[in-house]
Parts: sequence; structure tokens; C-alpha cells
Amino acid sequence: MSSSTTVAVTGAEGFIGSHLVEALVADGHRVRAMVQYNSFSSFGWLEELDPQVLDSVEVVLGDVRDPGSVNGLVKGAETVYHLAALIAIPYSYQAPHSYVDTNVTGTLNVLEAVRHLDVPRLVHTSTSETYGTAQTVPITEDHPINTQSPYAASKAGGDRLADSYHASFGTPVVTLRPFNTFGPRQSMRAVIPTVIAQLAAGEREITLGDLRPTRDFMFVEDTAAAFRAVGTAPADTVVGRTFNAGTGREISVGDTVALIGKLMGADVTVKEDEQRLRPADSEVFRLVADATRLRTATGWAPAHSLEQGLERTIAFFRDPANLSRYKTDRYNV
Ligand SMILES: NC(=O)c1ccc[n+]([C@@H]2O[C@H](COP(=O)([O-])OP(=O)(O)OC[C@H]3O[C@@H](n4cnc5c(N)ncnc54)[C@H](O)[C@@H]3O)[C@@H](O)[C@H]2O)c1
Repeated sequence: MSSSTTVAVTGAEGFIGSHLVEALVADGHRVRAMVQYNSFSSFGWLEELDPQVLDSVEVVLGDVRDPGSVNGLVKGAETVYHLAALIAIPYSYQAPHSYVDTNVTGTLNVLEAVRHLDVPRLVHTSTSETYGTAQTVPITEDHPINTQSPYAASKAGGDRLADSYHASFGTPVVTLRPFNTFGPRQSMRAVIPTVIAQLAAGEREITLGDLRPTRDFMFVEDTAAAFRAVGTAPADTVVGRTFNAGTGREISVGDTVALIGKLMGADVTVKEDEQRLRPADSEVFRLVADATRLRTATGWAPAHSLEQGLERTIAFFRDPANLSRYKTDRYNV
């Protein structure tokens, strides 16, 4: 890949986006990074990147809900990685309109821009939540879509638009469907940072929702590698297709808490907090990936075990400078 290649990333200042930007720069790209406009001039997690990495990053403040802002971002890019989204499930119960505006209309704006500006490749981001509770395991891409939250519904809406743009206009879009990702910089709306941050802050009785659901947790650098794999694979192997990205290892939330406690040398007790429970029919009880399609098409494979990823995440949260950015004493939706 030529070092002068410009790639564009939406959601670049977020958890996965910031790791993807670092990896793309390491691959030799120049990155045009959309950071959601805010009056604090905050570049989110991009502010934590090495200044040498940032030399190859052009930060553009914008908003995927605004077509002009998206056009400016993608113009001239070789590849667009579209990660911007509202992602918290509990907040999607409170603010569903903003999820449709961001995840559906925002994706439509990206598709329109890629189509009209002839961008050669768009990687659209889906989520395992679109499958709902597994009906068969492991979950392949042929598993039915069953959207149990407004978040999942809005992401599936974006997916369907992406499929329709490929079918209708030949838009060169590939959809990556990550299962649960974890690692440094993740927000405390997710269970792993919630547990690690509370323990790192000295709590031993930690507050959580339901411990029974199972998940397929993947380390964020492996997710970033999956994005780059579908972003760079020959078009005839990936374009127009959807790819799961997950490890295939299934573990319950309760067993994950116990594993983190063991790795941190902490005796953990869990207090269930009712406000953290999803409504019964909205809870996704079982998720585990079959990522054979991605492995076969691109040669991608996760490089970190759950334990290795957790060790890296624990080290991040144990650094007081990092921990101070989190509000460990409240429920973060
Ligand atoms: N974290 C996971 O476990 C996981 C799993 C599957 C899929 N995903 C998907 O991966 C992507 C990234 O998720 P993440 O975990 O990094 O979450 P995140 O919240 O850290 O990142 C999302 C980013 O999108 C930005 N954004 C939100 N609204 C925007 C708007 N209107 N315009 C421009 N930017 C906007 C946010 O500022 C944020 O930086 C999302 O599409 C999400 O649905 C995440």
C-alpha cells in the first residue's frame, strides 16, 4: 500500500476508532479523521495518541448527520471506514430519535457521499446485537436478524441501506459485524471497563446488571485488524458481503467478572443494580461468533486471548491518569 494513500474514518475519536486510526497510520496511511463537532474542541481519544502518529492525521470536526460535512470528509479518500454511531443500548431506550438520525440517516449520508464521489471502498460497521439472542450457535452471517433494542434496530437499518446501495448502485461497500470489543479507552457503558475501573478505584463490591448473558469478547486491536483486513482485501473477495468478527470463545458476564478478579488479585462481590437490567425481552442472552467467512476471505485471525487482552486493559485502568477520566462512582449509560 502506498504511503500517500488517504483513508477517512468516522467515529475516529471513539474507542475502536482511535485504535483503528493508530493502526492505519502504522500501516503507512494518511488518515482524515472525523471527530464529532463539539464546542470544547475536544478530539476525544485522539488527544491521547503519540504526536508522531498525529502528524499523519488530519482531524476534521463534523457530523455524519450533515451531508456536507460527510462529503468533505470522504472526497479523495481511497477507503472510508464508517464507525460513527450512537452505541449505548440503555440510552437508546431514552433517545431513540437520535439513534435513527445518527445510525440510519448518518449511514445514508456516508453511502450517498461514497456513491457520488466514487470512493473505491466503504467499510460499514454493523454489530452482533443485530442478531439478538442466538437461535443457533456459533452465529454465522446467515443467522436471522432480530433487533431487540432501538440501538440494534438502528444499526440493522444502516446495514440494510448498505446492502441496498450495493445492489442498486454497485456501491463498493463491505459490512464488518464485530462482536463485543473491549480494551483500553472503552467507555464505562460496557461491562469489562465497568468491572476493571471499579476494582482499580479500590471498590470490592461492584455494581452490575445481569450476570447470566454470554458474550464473545474480542480485544480492540484484533477488531482494528479486522477492519483493515476487509478494507484492503481484493474487491472480489469482500465487496457486497457481511463479515462477522469475533473469537468464537463464549463466556458469561459472571465468569468474566471472576476472571478479571483473579487477574487483578481482588476478591470481588457483585451487587445487582436493577436500573442496569434491560427489559426482559430486550436482553440478548447469548452471542458467540462464527468468523469463518472473514478468516477464509482475508486470512485475518485474532492475535490476543481474552486473558492477554484483559491484562492490557487492566494495565490501562490502573494508570491513575487514565482512571481519572472515568466516573467510577455512577452508572454510565
Ligand atoms: N464496542 C463494541 O463492543 C462494538 C461492537 C460491535 C460494533 N460496534 C460498533 O463499532 C463502532 C464504534 O463503536 P465504539 O465502541 O468505538 O463506540 P464509541 O462511542 O467510542 O465511538 C463512536 C464514535 O462515533 C461518534 N459519533 C456519534 N455520533 C456522531 C455524529 N452524529 N457524527 C459524527 N460522529 C459521531 C462519537 O463521538 C464516538 O467517537 C460503532 O459503529 C458501533 O456500533 C462496537
